Amino acid sequence: MSTATLRPLAATELHLWRLRLDLPARAQSATETALAPDERERAAHFYFAADARRFVAAHGQLRQLISAYVGRRPAELVFAANDFGKPGLAAPADVLQFNLAHSGAWALVALTAAVPVGVDVEACRPITDRAAIAERFFAPGEAQRLSALPAGEQAAAFFRCWTRKEAYLKARGLGLSLPLDAFEVTLETGQPRLLWVQDDPAEAAAWQLLEPAMPPGYAAAIAVRGREAALVDCGEWPIRGDT
Ligand SMILES: CC(C)(COP(=O)(O)OP(=O)(O)OC[C@H]1O[C@@H](n2cnc3c(N)ncnc32)[C@H](O)[C@@H]1OP(=O)(O)O)[C@@H](O)C(=O)NCCC(=O)NCCS
Repeated sequence: MSTATLRPLAATELHLWRLRLDLPARAQSATETALAPDERERAAHFYFAADARRFVAAHGQLRQLISAYVGRRPAELVFAANDFGKPGLAAPADVLQFNLAHSGAWALVALTAAVPVGVDVEACRPITDRAAIAERFFAPGEAQRLSALPAGEQAAAFFRCWTRKEAYLKARGLGLSLPLDAFEVTLETGQPRLLWVQDDPAEAAAWQLLEPAMPPGYAAAIAVRGREAALVDCGEWPIRGDT
């Protein structure tokens, strides 16, 4: 796919881009140029310089990428958050939906023409109190199925569950006002699915969960509303030395 301008998203397409967050100096400074003042302000408040650099790389490349879809300069894009903090594109308005996730050295951006989408990525670090976290935060069925797995499979299953839940939560855009135990997802590899959502028997069938390929050590999931959305894996966003 050319990066100067990207073809518009078709109504049924879900595009996924992977962004590297550890950039060479020239590309890093190009991402900084692309930021809006409020994003620069946020970047200035990180305690660790490495976290600030990755934040700048994620948000600068997000702007580069969306600008290539909509044909505006990166710094001209205006984002606005809904009441629960989910950012969307406010200007130009009504041209696409997107969601960003970042963890460790990678960010993911999922985009659709109009349907709600959410994405999550996690660097799979060791978690000592995994069972306790699952019991406290996951739906009871998820915690039970996790604990029933052979010990050697639980770490990967935990992150599959986590990213699927987070992707759905982010797609809904309701933040944690939608409790984590009010819906259940599968844990099995290759079979991402929303199983049920409390108080809404039709909700689970209205969504697709997808499991995009990631570099070793990372888990990721996408949630998209509608059965017809088809994933287009756009690969890695090319590192750029200009904006
Ligand atoms: C805000 C939230 C999205 C943070 O999620 P996270 O895993 O820390 O971070 P991610 O990398 O996935 O996503 C962050 C990006 O999502 C977007 N985002 C922020 N609020 C959002 C919301 N309410 N809905 C969707 N997307 C949101 C932003 O672009 C944000 O980027 P930024 O922080 O650099 O501005 C929120 O869902 C949250 O706090 N979740 C709690 C985490 C949790 O307990 N998960 C349990 C899963 S089982």
